[in-house]
Amino acid sequence: MLEYSKHVTGLGRFLFELLSEALGLNPDHLNNIGCSEGLAVLYHYYPSCPEPEKTLGASKHADYDFLTVLLQDNIGGLQVLYQNQWVDIPPLSGALVVNIGDLLQLISNDKFKSSQHRVLANRAGPRVSVACFFTTGLMPSTKLYGPIKELLSEENNPPKYRETTVTEYSLHYNAKGLGGTSALSDFRL
Ligand code: OGA
Ligand code: NI
Repeated sequence: MLEYSKHVTGLGRFLFELLSEALGLNPDHLNNIGCSEGLAVLYHYYPSCPEPEKTLGASKHADYDFLTVLLQDNIGGLQVLYQNQWVDIPPLSGALVVNIGDLLQLISNDKFKSSQHRVLANRAGPRVSVACFFTTGLMPSTKLYGPIKELLSEENNPPKYRETTVTEYSLHYNAKGLGGTSALSDFRL
């Protein structure tokens, strides 16, 4: 676990460099403001389900972090909502799935969109996945995150969200739970 987390942290730092450049910022920007500072690693075990049409493995949600690196096994069931349709993300040996999280949507002022996804229940299981969340949510912090100032302009791109801390956002997200309305929309101005 520790070894894997180290590799994912390195990959994350590289991805945040690319994402900074995509936003037209200095490559170090997202790393400098702490996006890659915390990693929460969650191992999922989805038991084999005798009646998969009656339930879900994981309900529809967007992740509450900046970025998620997901490793799934060969069972399948992960889907992403694209143009109002659920699209399968089939397992590909050796491949990782990278999801934009709500906090990256917030600080990019909607330039990046957090992906809505879910996991179907499966007869072919059990299914195992490892989700690595880039977030400092587990360490209490008063650092404020809002839309990145360099991206904003009064006429063309006013801020769409109020500032929040990672701790406040995580608590709000967890209190709402999965499957309902988006936690991010509650921070819209
Ligand atoms: C998550 C998640 C998907 C999976 O942990 O947020 O979406 O494949 N996991 O387990
Ligand atoms: Ni998720």
